[in-house]
Amino acid sequence: AVFQHFGQKELLFKILVIGDYGVGKTAIVRRYTEGKFSSNYKITIGADFAIKNLDWDSQTKIKLQLWDIAGHERFGYMTRVYYKYAVAAALVFDISRVATFQSVKKWLGDLREKVTLPDGSKIPIVLLANKCDINQAAVPNEQIIKFCKENDIGSWFVTSAKENLNIDEAMHYLVGNVLKSK
Ligand code: GTP
Ligand code: MG
Repeated sequence: AVFQHFGQKELLFKILVIGDYGVGKTAIVRRYTEGKFSSNYKITIGADFAIKNLDWDSQTKIKLQLWDIAGHERFGYMTRVYYKYAVAAALVFDISRVATFQSVKKWLGDLREKVTLPDGSKIPIVLLANKCDINQAAVPNEQIIKFCKENDIGSWFVTSAKENLNIDEAMHYLVGNVLKSK
């Protein structure tokens, strides 16, 4: 996944976007890759893909392959296949719905069980508290901070795909951590 051309590097990173159904995974990916948002909910079946090209620095171009995984239970059996070769993950919940935060634990367990880097180490993960524009934070910050600390999650962001809040920042953070872990 790496080639060099007159000192230029091009890297390919597979990044997973996971979390319960309806939390906004597809909306986040669409906002990040196309700059668009729609308030219609169209359930993801299986998984979708999107590409984002980054000019990271003068020597490094990065192609992000974003795997937008269906959150609905009935697609759960496929996750092992989808997770293969991933180097990072964005774990998403809906800050206005506590149940989706409780599910983060389940998604994280699934991920940690099925994915490691080639050297056996954990992949970097960022936690996204999405839909902050709704202004109905049902999950207190202290709980989120505690959860991250206990589960080796480097950082978390309050995001809104609708208002385009913190999506670029969160992805930038994640990619930076992938580069560090290489
Ligand atoms: P599955 O594909 O079923 O796993 O769901 P998903 O996580 O991909 O959810 P999706 O992105 O389809 O969003 C579900 C609904 O939430 C849609 O109606 C979106 O418009 C809405 N939504 C997503 N992100 C936001 C946000 O930041 N703010 C608000 N207000 N609504 C959002
Ligand atoms: Mg979706």
